[in-house]
Amino acid sequence: MGLMTDLSALSHESRRFEPPAELAASANVTAEAYEQSNKDRLAFWETQADRLLWDRRWDEVLDWQPPFASWFVGGRLNASVNCLDRHVDNGLGDRVAYHFVGEPGDTRTITYAELLKEVSKAANALTELGVEAGDRVCIYLPLIPEAAIAMLACARIGAAHSVVFGGFSAQALIDRIQDANAKVVITADGGYRRGAPSALKPAVDEAVAQCPSVTSVLVVKRTNQEVAWSDKDIWWEDVVDRQPDTHQAEAFDAEQPLFLLYTSGTTGKPKGILHTTGGYLTQVAYTHWAVFDLKAETDVYWCTADVGWVTGHSYSVYGPLANGATSVLYEGTPDAGGKDRWWQIVEQYGVTILYTAPTAIRTFMKWGDDLPGSRDLTSLRVLGSVGEPINPEAWIWYRDVIGGGRCPIVDTWWQTETGAMMISPLPGVTSCKPGSAMGPLPGISVDVCNDAGKSTSAGFLTLNEPWPAMLRGIWNDEARFRETYWSRFEGRYFAGDGAKWDEDHVLWLLGRVDDVMNVSGHRISTTEVESALVSHPSVAEAAVVGANDATTGQAIVAFVTLKSAAVDDGEALLKALREHVAKEIGPIAKPRTILITPELPKTRSGKIMRRLLRDVAEGREMGDVTTLADPTVVNAINEKMGTSSGED
Ligand code: WTA
Repeated sequence: MGLMTDLSALSHESRRFEPPAELAASANVTAEAYEQSNKDRLAFWETQADRLLWDRRWDEVLDWQPPFASWFVGGRLNASVNCLDRHVDNGLGDRVAYHFVGEPGDTRTITYAELLKEVSKAANALTELGVEAGDRVCIYLPLIPEAAIAMLACARIGAAHSVVFGGFSAQALIDRIQDANAKVVITADGGYRRGAPSALKPAVDEAVAQCPSVTSVLVVKRTNQEVAWSDKDIWWEDVVDRQPDTHQAEAFDAEQPLFLLYTSGTTGKPKGILHTTGGYLTQVAYTHWAVFDLKAETDVYWCTADVGWVTGHSYSVYGPLANGATSVLYEGTPDAGGKDRWWQIVEQYGVTILYTAPTAIRTFMKWGDDLPGSRDLTSLRVLGSVGEPINPEAWIWYRDVIGGGRCPIVDTWWQTETGAMMISPLPGVTSCKPGSAMGPLPGISVDVCNDAGKSTSAGFLTLNEPWPAMLRGIWNDEARFRETYWSRFEGRYFAGDGAKWDEDHVLWLLGRVDDVMNVSGHRISTTEVESALVSHPSVAEAAVVGANDATTGQAIVAFVTLKSAAVDDGEALLKALREHVAKEIGPIAKPRTILITPELPKTRSGKIMRRLLRDVAEGREMGDVTTLADPTVVNAINEKMGTSSGED
């Protein structure tokens, strides 16, 4: 638990920031919510479920057969209707659902009425392509409105979507399509990335050739790039545009699968995290409303996450739309068209709530205060952070430079598995310590425990009561579901994070305690990168560690030994290895540093000593080396470290 010792110093932070008086006076949620939920947790969630439109009310709030939960048992609803039809029926059809900003500068404003029509057409098209309730549809798109439209169209007909981040490789796509047995893939010719069109279709072509389950590929025209064409391919505009723009949606069981989202675990194989409908939508709607103090009539909300990640699912699509919010959707990178692009967007649309990741905040810190300083950011009133622990320095900068010292910061801890926010301040209630997610939200129960499962002040974060948006399983792998989350501590969910209560009973998240790295807020397992490296013909063995990095939180550092026949041609080999990892997993998994070493440090029983490698990667003296089978390995690695190569 190297990270935990490094970060435990944080909790000596004594500064406090009170909620702004004006916000507190009209806040959606007051301290009473904690009392209510403590008194009767299930009644509390039942009240929140009433935010939604149900075709049939539930008979029972929760059926808990650990580790399997059913929420709102017997209830029936349609997620897409909850996000669209009911707002239109309530006279809000002209409210803007999305202000879309494309990377090249193209924009689209889409009202709730228009979004409902687009989603209805897409739902009709999917039905025409043979997609039925219970099927899986893979979505591999840039961050364009069609991504949200495709997700809602699947939800509308009861098909589960599996969104794969556009930055993942063909191989990653193959693994995910095959695991889910997806029937249809929805993609685009390409998207815009860093000022240039970036192709998506070739990866789909490569994948579909190996995925017989796929019967059709729906292709959105975004970049007008040349694309190869097969008889399974259909242009989105050819099939969707000619459909009727109404669609009578059917209500589904509260436990109807809504989506799968693959995330890294501690083995090489990604896990398909399964979420269902009623509980998920209840908790994302409640938390989006409570944690951001959303005033749907006036706020302009912007979550910067890509739909390929859970944050994009819960807080760019389902949460805000369920609440009838107006959101910004921006396709590109923070520096496309200038390093002040985000601040330009905030100014232009009058963004009031901004939700982003610490890695972005630290990048902006590096770029300097002038860029946000030259824009009018006074519309902002609440700032959110997610994805990794936010260091107090970045927290203060976010508050002062972006929030003008006015805006509360909500540091929200949650996971793909939890589906929705779990630990966070409430902006009108909590007196915040910079760098802390403070404590569990109303209706959520956490416990920090030691190895033996006993409550303690610093140790492992566990969730000791079921929650509505919790994962319902790992797709096709019940054994792994039990083993990963429920076996370490009897009857409790083990999150894989370390945490600590400080002397004021404020909670500090201390990073992962397993072999999962967090790079720019993206989870990548060390094993996954190791197996990618080992699949290169020159590599004999590889060990990967996450090293602290000032911008990305952690950076991937790989130690590689070569096969005797392999030629070490220096930079060329390192480049080839990085490219190989990008091809196997995706560019986000490229190691920052690769060290070719003659040997890896191992114990006598042959176990790689990652702790030592982490020391090397973070530039420390290596710790205790006495258990090494061959202590001279250390010298060889240290020597290499002096001549290592950095980023591309
Ligand atoms: C980390 C992202 C500290 C944590 C929503 C968790 C955080 C993993 C925070 C989940 C936070 C997320 N403070 N750590 N506010 N938010 N994490 O599945 O290690 O992509 O287990 O979900 O990110 O990442 P995931």
